[in-house]
Amino acid sequence: MPPIFTVSLTSPSALLLLLPFFATLVSLSQGFVGINYGTQFSASPSAVEVVQLLQRQSITNVRLYDANGTMLQALARTGIQVMVTVPNTQLLSVGQSNTSASNWVKTNVLAYLPATNITAICVGTEVLTTDPNAALVLVPAMKYLRTALLSSNLSANIKISTSNDPSLILDSFPPSQAFFNKTWTSPVLLPMLDFLSSTGSFFMLNIYSYDIFKNSNGIILLDYALLNPLTPGNVVTDSNTLFQYRNLFDAVLDACYFALAQLNYSTLPVVVSETGWPSGGDTSDTDATPENASIYVSNLIAHILNNTGTPKRPRSPVSIFIMELFNEDVKIGSAAARNYGLFNASTLQPVYYLRLSNSGPLLANDTTTQLYCVAKPGSDSDALQIALDWACGIGRANCTAIQPGQLCYEPDTVQAHASYAFDSYYQKNNRVMGSCDFNGVAQVSTTNPSSGVCTYPGSSSNNTVNVTASNSTSNFTDIGNSTDINGNDTSTASLLLHLAPSNSLSQILLSILSLMIVMCLTSQF
Ligand SMILES: *[C@@H]1O[C@H](CO)[C@@H](O)[C@H](O)[C@H]1NC(C)=O
Ligand SMILES: *[C@@H]1O[C@H](CO)[C@@H](O)[C@H](O)[C@H]1NC(C)=O
Ligand SMILES: *[C@@H]1O[C@H](CO)[C@@H](O)[C@H](O)[C@H]1NC(C)=O
Ligand SMILES: *[C@@H]1O[C@H](CO)[C@@H](O)[C@H](O)[C@H]1NC(C)=O
Ligand SMILES: *[C@@H]1O[C@H](CO)[C@@H](O)[C@H](O)[C@H]1NC(C)=O
Ligand SMILES: *[C@@H]1O[C@H](CO)[C@@H](O)[C@H](O)[C@H]1NC(C)=O
Ligand SMILES: *[C@@H]1O[C@H](CO)[C@@H](O)[C@H](O)[C@H]1NC(C)=O
Ligand SMILES: *[C@@H]1O[C@H](CO)[C@@H](O)[C@H](O)[C@H]1NC(C)=O
Ligand SMILES: *[C@@H]1O[C@H](CO)[C@@H](O)[C@H](O)[C@H]1NC(C)=O
Ligand SMILES: *[C@@H]1O[C@H](CO)[C@@H](O)[C@H](O)[C@H]1NC(C)=O
Ligand SMILES: *[C@@H]1O[C@H](CO)[C@@H](O)[C@H](O)[C@H]1NC(C)=O
Ligand SMILES: *[C@@H]1O[C@H](CO)[C@@H](O)[C@H](O)[C@H]1NC(C)=O
Repeated sequence: MPPIFTVSLTSPSALLLLLPFFATLVSLSQGFVGINYGTQFSASPSAVEVVQLLQRQSITNVRLYDANGTMLQALARTGIQVMVTVPNTQLLSVGQSNTSASNWVKTNVLAYLPATNITAICVGTEVLTTDPNAALVLVPAMKYLRTALLSSNLSANIKISTSNDPSLILDSFPPSQAFFNKTWTSPVLLPMLDFLSSTGSFFMLNIYSYDIFKNSNGIILLDYALLNPLTPGNVVTDSNTLFQYRNLFDAVLDACYFALAQLNYSTLPVVVSETGWPSGGDTSDTDATPENASIYVSNLIAHILNNTGTPKRPRSPVSIFIMELFNEDVKIGSAAARNYGLFNASTLQPVYYLRLSNSGPLLANDTTTQLYCVAKPGSDSDALQIALDWACGIGRANCTAIQPGQLCYEPDTVQAHASYAFDSYYQKNNRVMGSCDFNGVAQVSTTNPSSGVCTYPGSSSNNTVNVTASNSTSNFTDIGNSTDINGNDTSTASLLLHLAPSNSLSQILLSILSLMIVMCLTSQF
């Protein structure tokens, strides 16, 4: 499978960085980053608009969940590599005979070649777990399709595979103990793996880190799920192999590698066909935020491009398709499942921005859109007050404008004042990853929160999306240290600052309460 990579070349250094990468595109010697194009949204962007968006974002590889002719035509002469899908509803008929498979290839593949660069066919999605009735025709369908490609001399250019849900892999922690559900081993998996291996293809696995994290009920750390750096004590060790896992993605992928090795396919490549993080959900999805989505996808892309591999297959390339281009607002399933998109299908605007060092804005390439940090709607006001005090104190945000009589004092609400302070902190820290979190009460926004006479720090003309990675100089968790770099007690400083707007007794009590909460928090760190 030819690698896929999506990048906008923003600077000569980014170009230099990528040259060695593109030089190795022909084999799987370097992991690729592609994108899924699901279509269960209510907006109706034309196929041409969608393809223009892919091109603007320098996306060179896309996976479709069907073989939509309008879309395939729009993708012609773009150089974008396309994986088409045989939908599960067509699997029974395609798997019937060589003739039906050959007809499918004629209609959905040959008709668009060579103008459209179709490089893979995904035969059904998660068939074994979602459509077990079709399981027994899966491998025959793959073989019939291959025969059809062979007879057109296309088998070298077009790979055939099928996507799998990780629930097919049992006992996946520790990864070294993982194995495939034995129900499917003999009837489907062994013939399938033999087919994939002998045709130079790859196994496809979906990795939904967010679902695994959420269902773990707090056992899995958010930072582990988001591929953030961990303290040594939080690195997870497989007691059999002593492999150290620094993120959930690698652990799930290694479980798959171990399960494959157990069936003697220890070198079969695995392409991660779906992975992402929802930017929204319902009230139970508190960690489905644009900020976390950006962190997950950005960290994951950096991890893939670094070619780190996993503990089981170090430096072995890993390829992924990000879930997904657009939010699918009419998709059946959880609210979170409707919020995996990088873009909004009706406005074609980014839902959030990715932040990657040295490679410029990736995928969300609109460098003119400005980013702000604001209080997350519905946040607890005590938690906001603590974060506000921290931002204006230790965080050294410029809180002058929210003092009484100043331009952003009105509306005099903790929500509005916190938003202003968060934005000041975020802009001062160059919008680096992690600087708009404040223990979960802040979120990145692309809407300018300025109103009337109050201008937010982020709306200065300097606020263009800056994806240059730099290290956050400080963190909200620094709240554990109540002195600033000068040794001044900033808890008091921020308390005084907070008291300034109003001297009413309730305000003073509230402030003392926040200080007490600060102290409680302090004792935890
Ligand atoms: C994408 O980013 C590059 C570099 O900033 C810029 O030259 C190009 O015009 C951008 N594309 C669009 C459509 O904004
Ligand atoms: C194919 O894609 C076009 C453009 O996205 C869409 O309008 C059309 O409904 C699709 N056709 C089918 C059969 O899904
Ligand atoms: C299609 O993609 C393959 C793999 O990268 C590449 O070798 C080939 O030149 C492409 N074909 C066209 C017509 O763009
Ligand atoms: C294995 O797969 C079968 C068939 O889908 C299913 O009934 C069974 O529950 C699975 N086993 C486990 C342990 O999940
Ligand atoms: C990049 O890969 C090297 C070598 O495998 C590894 O030491 C390093 O930690 C990786 N960096 C990141 C950011 O993954
Ligand atoms: C802080 O903000 C105020 C009001 O917006 C502004 O006049 C002042 O120059 C800022 N101070 C610094 C150090 O940026
Ligand atoms: C914006 O950029 C100009 C020139 O680069 C600089 O003088 C000014 O201080 C910047 N403003 C802010 C708020 O960073
Ligand atoms: C982006 O961030 C880097 C590192 O903090 C900084 O050097 C650079 O000036 C910033 N660029 C813009 C346009 O803000
Ligand atoms: C960021 O931090 C890492 C590790 O602490 C360090 O190796 C790297 O040089 C830092 N990068 C910058 C731009 O300061
Ligand atoms: C900032 O906070 C994040 C998560 O809350 C943490 O992973 C990261 O290590 C912290 N950074 C610093 C510099 O303390
Ligand atoms: C608090 O910060 C000061 C100044 O940076 C430092 O000297 C001190 O060790 C820190 N205290 C703790 C408990 O981290
Ligand atoms: C505390 O802050 C004041 C004013 O910002 C400064 O003059 C003083 O030197 C600081 N105290 C110490 C111990 O640095």
